[in-house]
Amino acid sequence: MTSATPSLFDARSRLDPLGHYPVRAGHDVIVARAGVRRHASLMGFDRVPTAELVIVASELAANVLRHGAGGWLDVERRDDPTHGAALVLTARDFGPPFVDFERALRDRSTDKGTIPPDAIYGRPGIGGGLGAVKRFCDAVGTESLSDGKRVRAVRFLRGARREGR
Ligand SMILES: Nc1ncnc2c1ncn2[C@@H]1O[C@H](COP(=O)(O)OP(=O)(O)O)[C@@H](O)[C@H]1O
Ligand SMILES: [Mg+2]
Repeated sequence: MTSATPSLFDARSRLDPLGHYPVRAGHDVIVARAGVRRHASLMGFDRVPTAELVIVASELAANVLRHGAGGWLDVERRDDPTHGAALVLTARDFGPPFVDFERALRDRSTDKGTIPPDAIYGRPGIGGGLGAVKRFCDAVGTESLSDGKRVRAVRFLRGARREGR
């Protein structure tokens, strides 16, 4: 479930808001990270999954700044009848759509293709942010909007990720 999965953005699935973090400058990423750490830990995520969710938040928020012309990060809780509680991170930005989201999820890749080894040095990122998001979450997807997009990552509190992979 790594593409623009309809259920990931299904308006009928109930999300309880936990935090809303504007992302307009570098320090906003730090504030969002701290918020996600607090919410994940309050929800009952252990230390390691909490640290992984902080990385997810960091990468999504950094992408909002770097590729998305600013926006925000929403932190929500979803209670799924089958899989139980999940933390849902949604990065909203006002930048251009992904050319190819599946490519963007690959390590050392932009949304257009692989980054040549020579180009990795001196580049602000190594094209591994969304790869980390994919590894640390149970589902990740994107939804295009008329004025930008959302990228959403979901991590269940118990088991789903480890059973499914
Ligand atoms: N919010 C975004 N808006 C548009 N394109 C994005 C966004 N986030 C990521 N991308 C695209 O996906 C690619 C991979 O993202 P990522 O894995 O975070 O690597 P990096 O940010 O280091 O390039 C980016 O190079 C960019 O092409
Ligand atoms: Mg990135």
